[in-house]
Amino acid sequence: MTGRSRKPLVAGNWKMHNNHFEAIALTQRLAFTLQERDFKAADIVVLPPFTALRSVQTLIEGDKLKLGYGAQDLSEHDDGPYTGDISGRMLAKLGCQYVLAGHSERRQYHHEDDAVVRAKVQAAVRAAITPILCVGEPLDVRQQGGQLGYTLGQLDRCLDGFPTAQVAEFIVAYEPVWAIGTGEVATPEDAQEVCAAIRKRISAVHGDEAGRGVRILYGGSVKPDNMPAIMAQPDIDGALVGGASLDAGDFVGICRYRGLSATT
Ligand code: PGA
Repeated sequence: MTGRSRKPLVAGNWKMHNNHFEAIALTQRLAFTLQERDFKAADIVVLPPFTALRSVQTLIEGDKLKLGYGAQDLSEHDDGPYTGDISGRMLAKLGCQYVLAGHSERRQYHHEDDAVVRAKVQAAVRAAITPILCVGEPLDVRQQGGQLGYTLGQLDRCLDGFPTAQVAEFIVAYEPVWAIGTGEVATPEDAQEVCAAIRKRISAVHGDEAGRGVRILYGGSVKPDNMPAIMAQPDIDGALVGGASLDAGDFVGICRYRGLSATT
């Protein structure tokens, strides 16, 4: 499978934005703007906060929209006395197809380490939800040139023990922490360097099928104007978009990185 035969995926991580009314309004704006050819060209996914998932589900299912959706986090447990947590099973019941695991904001503010993130990836697999595993280095590591070792270390620990067939279906998002929400986008070459290394490592550890199949996204200040150069890189299969996913026009612009006519 070459870079071009993996279907691109663009996921909008809404973070802690949009109550359920606002979520409905944004989903409706996306539904109104996105066309059949956009969905043929890329898998397009929104990741609302938990409280908006039911509303987004109802709208997407009711109007038979081709928009995918999922959650921003899940518990490593399937049920039990874990106050405030949400399980993969609950998300699966809401029709979620995707879930983020190990976003840097979870790692930073909720002290999630790689063992917890790995357990969350396992929980997603048990619930038959596709995990989007987030990895990426902080600024000091990048400044010392340690981005490959750091990011591959996270990848190894989070994917340890998963069989090839499962890993091939996973999505990995490379998000350099210094580029998230800062307007400081990695150069396409810098992003490609790490994404290529991620694919090579997955091939080496989990087999070529997994390496060829896994979709690798870049995330960190992706906007409509920098998306084409990012997507021109052979090992980048899409984007995880934060801030720009809150604006329907910007998000659609990112999804149409090849230009509207090129998606017909
Ligand atoms: P950003 O966020 O696009 O606002 O940088 C990306 C993310 O955190 O997933």
